[in-house]
Amino acid sequence: MMDKKTTLKIAIDGPGGAGKSTLAKSLSKKLGFAYVDTGAIYRTVGFAARERGIAPDDAAAVTAMLGEIKVEARFEGGRQDMYLDGEFLGDRIREHDISHYASAVSAIPAVRDYLFDMQRSIADANNVIMDGRDIGTVILPDAQLKVFLTATPEERAMRRTNELIEKGQNAVYEQILADIKERDERDSSRAVAPLKPADDAILFNNTGYTPEQSLAELLEIAKDKLGVSEVC
Ligand code: DC
Repeated sequence: MMDKKTTLKIAIDGPGGAGKSTLAKSLSKKLGFAYVDTGAIYRTVGFAARERGIAPDDAAAVTAMLGEIKVEARFEGGRQDMYLDGEFLGDRIREHDISHYASAVSAIPAVRDYLFDMQRSIADANNVIMDGRDIGTVILPDAQLKVFLTATPEERAMRRTNELIEKGQNAVYEQILADIKERDERDSSRAVAPLKPADDAILFNNTGYTPEQSLAELLEIAKDKLGVSEVC
């Protein structure tokens, strides 16, 4: 366990589909940092609501549910696995429908409070790259590097569509674009911890970039800002 003051923290925030997780994952390998996907944690709460037939925007019911569930992130071999009440959820949190549940439950203040300590304690124990919506503004305001990653809604929708098709899932571009715009609106306009760049974040619009180009650019920024070097 490291001294909490000595851990290095990189916060990557931005809207859904901007490529945060791909980028954060590959950067974490290059730098030997732990990668923490906070969206997966909110997805687990959204999943729990769906399992119980609770409307994700029913704040009272979702808040009551928090007292009855156990959400855990376990880190194994660089992978983050989500568990709900001791059960491994795997890719079930990636279902398209869960994006909506996660976005809706994440607007409830009690949900954000419930998950705060968990996210903070992971970052205090490790050098981390954490991605989400409020990492630079709320969870890790002390991060030494903050990046706000975005791309146009159309490009993000196209990337998501291709990703789903590659996984053999149904994907209709127009529907995905509409969902992305709806989620952007909800995530950015909520009263608590809305999606917005921290004052000291570096803005990175990666429209038209390949994942490799985005990684190369971010790696340079990290080396420059943190004085870190590649471990592999
Ligand atoms: O990154 P993602 O698509 O897996 O996130 C799912 C939802 O969770 C997203 O719509 C908003 C919410 N979220 C959040 O409010 N704060 C975070 N730090 C991460 C995700």
